[in-house]
Amino acid sequence: MAPAFDTYSRDPEDVARVFRYFAEVETPRLGSRVYTDYCAGVAEDAALLELACRTMPSQPPPNVLFAAVKSLLLEDAGRSDEARALARFYPVVSGEPIPDESAFPAFRAFCLAHAAELDPMLRTGRAQTCVVHRSAIMLPAIGTLPRVAAAQGRVALLEIGPSIGLNLRLDAYRFVYEGDGTTLTWGAPEARPQLDCEIRGPAPPLPERLEIVARHGLELSPIDLDDPHAVRWLRALIWPEHVLRGRLMDEAIAVAERIPAEIAAGDATKDLEAAVARLPKDAPRVVFATVALYQIDDAGQRAIHEALARASTAAPLDFVTMESDGEGSTRIDHFAFEGGAATGHAVLARADSHGRWIEWGRDG
Ligand SMILES: C[S@@+](CC[C@H](N)C(=O)[O-])C[C@H]1O[C@@H](n2cnc3c(N)ncnc32)[C@H](O)[C@@H]1O
Repeated sequence: MAPAFDTYSRDPEDVARVFRYFAEVETPRLGSRVYTDYCAGVAEDAALLELACRTMPSQPPPNVLFAAVKSLLLEDAGRSDEARALARFYPVVSGEPIPDESAFPAFRAFCLAHAAELDPMLRTGRAQTCVVHRSAIMLPAIGTLPRVAAAQGRVALLEIGPSIGLNLRLDAYRFVYEGDGTTLTWGAPEARPQLDCEIRGPAPPLPERLEIVARHGLELSPIDLDDPHAVRWLRALIWPEHVLRGRLMDEAIAVAERIPAEIAAGDATKDLEAAVARLPKDAPRVVFATVALYQIDDAGQRAIHEALARASTAAPLDFVTMESDGEGSTRIDHFAFEGGAATGHAVLARADSHGRWIEWGRDG
């Protein structure tokens, strides 16, 4: 089911449609009964829609509203009766299983009681969660590109919209791919996080080795690993039922604390060519984006492709994207650039948007 709404509009009726779509498609698909309750409730509630309309037009209102609420709970779940009542729906806060009742009444009461504290987060918050599990999709997609394989796995990476950049450290993780009697592993057995990924259809190819010689990011709103508020916002973006995801993020943050990446502040629609020029040229250069381009309009996405074409005048360039196809599926695309022009495009795979399964080689 394709979303039939304008995600940039802050007209309450349009925003209600976004919440309805999330209630019907997104939150069930990602296994959140709590957020399904919230979305269904907010869609019919004028006071909560007014709060959701305060979010920045480029941002998905449900994610930002829910993260603002969870951030306050992570900061102090004992701040009020409303907070204590709502905290029961967040196992990471309560330490208990989620109660079997609708979460919406407690959510509504909390939002109305704490609207003033939510306000600044609603107005500035970005849905810039970093889903480390997407590394399980980028490992075969980037690691087996012909130019990277020919260079024995050496690669210089530039990620568009990396958030805190956990997927720029993918070579440090452990991967286990399983499906239909096949198990593939990659990385040191003791490495953490361990990312488990279900194989659907043909098994993905894995690189023999991967040597990331540069880890660069270009991020509209970089996150400082040393800023506890910023890191709390990232944790707040994780949905209540996704307890494992929270643990994987914490393990990946520990990796990021020892493996540096250079994440520059900038807008990929304007600053990409200069960012590519900063990559070393003695290894294949790969630009990638995972679930970031949806925040960039069509003109901006065209500007990105044009910048990559120009940047390929100096040396060839590969671009790997993992984005929604607008029809409820996530597609992995590879675009090649050389001599100042686009030289090829292939669909590499389909995958779960959070990287929990991969269907390699399904073109179209
Ligand atoms: C949903 S997050 C995804 C983060 C990460 N790629 C992942 O897969 O977990 C999208 C990120 O893209 C960034 N972003 C959006 N538009 C951008 C732009 N024009 N230039 C650079 N970064 C951008 C956002 O700030 C955000 O951090």
